[in-house]
Amino acid sequence: MKALILAGGKGTRLRPITFSMAKQLVPVANKPVLFYGLEAIAAAGIRQVGIIVGDTAAEIQRAVGDGSRWGVEVTYIPQPEPLGLAHAVLTAEPYLRDEPFIMYLGDNIVTSSVKPLIEAFEQRKPNALILLAKVPNPQEFGVAELQGERVVRLIEKPKQPPSNLALVGVYLFDPHIFEAARAIKPSWRGELEITDAIQYLIDNGYTVEWQQITGWWKDTGSLDALLEANRLVLEDLRPANAGTLEETQLHGRVAIGAGSILKRCTVRGPAIIGANCYLEDCYIGSFTSIGDGVRLVSCEVEYSIILEGSVVEQVETRIEGSLLGKNVVVRGGAKRPRTMRLMLGDSSLVETP
Ligand code: G1P
Repeated sequence: MKALILAGGKGTRLRPITFSMAKQLVPVANKPVLFYGLEAIAAAGIRQVGIIVGDTAAEIQRAVGDGSRWGVEVTYIPQPEPLGLAHAVLTAEPYLRDEPFIMYLGDNIVTSSVKPLIEAFEQRKPNALILLAKVPNPQEFGVAELQGERVVRLIEKPKQPPSNLALVGVYLFDPHIFEAARAIKPSWRGELEITDAIQYLIDNGYTVEWQQITGWWKDTGSLDALLEANRLVLEDLRPANAGTLEETQLHGRVAIGAGSILKRCTVRGPAIIGANCYLEDCYIGSFTSIGDGVRLVSCEVEYSIILEGSVVEQVETRIEGSLLGKNVVVRGGAKRPRTMRLMLGDSSLVETP
């Protein structure tokens, strides 16, 4: 069995961050989203991993390399245009050939092991095995309609969802999926949908099995989902302090990287602070991830992700539910009149909730 990880796509819902970085490399608890999938695949004993890449190919290649860090052998497969998940499958056909494979969307994180899925697939040999999860917002995903125990219909982003069972971005297929991907037509969003390809399998008498996910699952493609994934990963954070603390209090589970200095701070875990950060007179609240080399002075941050090299200084309002890219500067001041000076990239967002 091979693995196919999809790391193309434009990440429009995470702009402006994704103007300058691949959505699959945005860190969750200071680790790129994509690495969670790679770890899951390696842990399941798969050695050959194809990664579909698009515009951000160079960046993905730089981050993942040849895969030896995970004990896998990575082959990069360029997809000239992001024309859908089923199109990505067709693009990978020369690599996958007649082997069954697990497909993993590079912006998804699942906590349960994928090994039992692979074992079930190898034992029962259906043509496809899909994973379903109960969600409160099914209209944002592919949705399954069941009749008894059987999947009878799969609809991509339905306005009126027939159930609350969303398709998780982890699928197992045998080579019949190529026939299906070739047979379908692009959807309203101009993409060859994997959902439609699986529907083709169902309609043409192939066996499509499903399992409900046991742990949690997040598609990290939007800000809210990303912050939620960050919270869920931090729930399992192991505390570790390699930094220097002066008059600083740590409550709960906090991880601090080497070379970081915290002066007169309060950190309420779970929270992770990277290496070589400088924090002074700060409050860091729960579910916050701070990347390497960040400088925070006289500010409060909670339930947020701050990427490497950013600076927040003298900001009176607590920063909450926020994502700051790399090398961002947010600097306040107590001077009057109270004004704001902004230099924000396209699609930036500043708001008072
Ligand atoms: C894709 C699939 C959808 C699935 C989702 C899971 O959606 O098309 O069926 O539920 O991934 O993350 P997209 O992220 O392309 O909108």
